[in-house]
Amino acid sequence: MSRVAWVTDPHLDHASPEALETFQGELLEARVTGVIVTGDIAESIGLQRYLDWFREHCRGDLWFCLGNHDFYYDSIDRVRATAAAWARETASYYLNIAEPMEMAPGVGLVGHDGWADGRTPSYERSLVFMHDSRLIADFAGQDKLTRWETMKRLADESANWIEQQIVRAAERWRTIYVATHVPPYREACWYNGEISDDHWAPHFTNVAFGERLIELADRFPQHRFHVLCGHTHGGGSYSPQANLTVETGAAEYGSPRVTRILEW
Ligand SMILES: [Fe+2]
Ligand SMILES: [Fe+2]
Repeated sequence: MSRVAWVTDPHLDHASPEALETFQGELLEARVTGVIVTGDIAESIGLQRYLDWFREHCRGDLWFCLGNHDFYYDSIDRVRATAAAWARETASYYLNIAEPMEMAPGVGLVGHDGWADGRTPSYERSLVFMHDSRLIADFAGQDKLTRWETMKRLADESANWIEQQIVRAAERWRTIYVATHVPPYREACWYNGEISDDHWAPHFTNVAFGERLIELADRFPQHRFHVLCGHTHGGGSYSPQANLTVETGAAEYGSPRVTRILEW
C-alpha cells in the first residue's frame, strides 16, 4: 500500500522553531512513503532552505508545486528555474516539469503551480489588491488591467500543461490525482466555511484550469480525477461532475501541518 502525506500552504517562513518541530514530528509519525506539497512553501528568499527542510524531514519521495507566496521578492521565471534545478539535484519532483508519476497501481499524479485568472465573477470589479501585485516582479509596476493579462497568461499555461499531462496519464492509470495551488472552481474556494465573495474569488480561482479539467473529465468518462489544492486556507470539497472532485486543504499561518494522508 502507498501512504502519502498531502501538505498545502505550510508557509514555513511563518513557523516558529517549535511549530517546525511539531510539524516535523507529525511527518515522521505519519510513516508515509512520500509527501505532496501544493504550494506556498515559503517566499523566494527562503525557498531553497525550506525545500531542503522538506527533503530532510520527509521520508521517501517529494512532489511539489509552488504557490504565489513562493514567488514573493523575485520573478516567476527565476523562482521556477531555481525550483527545477533544486528538484533535479535532490531527485525530487517539481510538478511543472515532472513526468506523470505512478503513486500506486492504477493511480497517477500530475500537477502544476496554476494561477488565479480573475475570470470569475469579475476581476475589474474586485476591490482586492493582492500582495502579489507589488511583491512579484512580473506584476510590480503594472496597471490593474495589464496585471490581469499576466494572470490569464499564467493560468492558460497551467491549463495547457495539465491537458498534455492528463492525456498522457490517462493511457496508464484510471485514477488521476492533480496537484495544484489555486482552486479551479469558485465553489472550491473555501474560507471560514464559506465560498469566497465576489471580491476575492477572482484572485482565488483558476477558471482556465477548471474548464480544461471538465473537458478532460468528459473526454475520459471511465477515469476518476481528484484535484488537491490550497491557496484560500479554508478546507472543503466540491464535485462539478461525477468523475471529478476537488479537495481544498485548510491551512493556518504559523501552524504547518499534514493536510491529509492519502492511501491507495
Ligand atoms: Fe497560502
Ligand atoms: Fe496562495
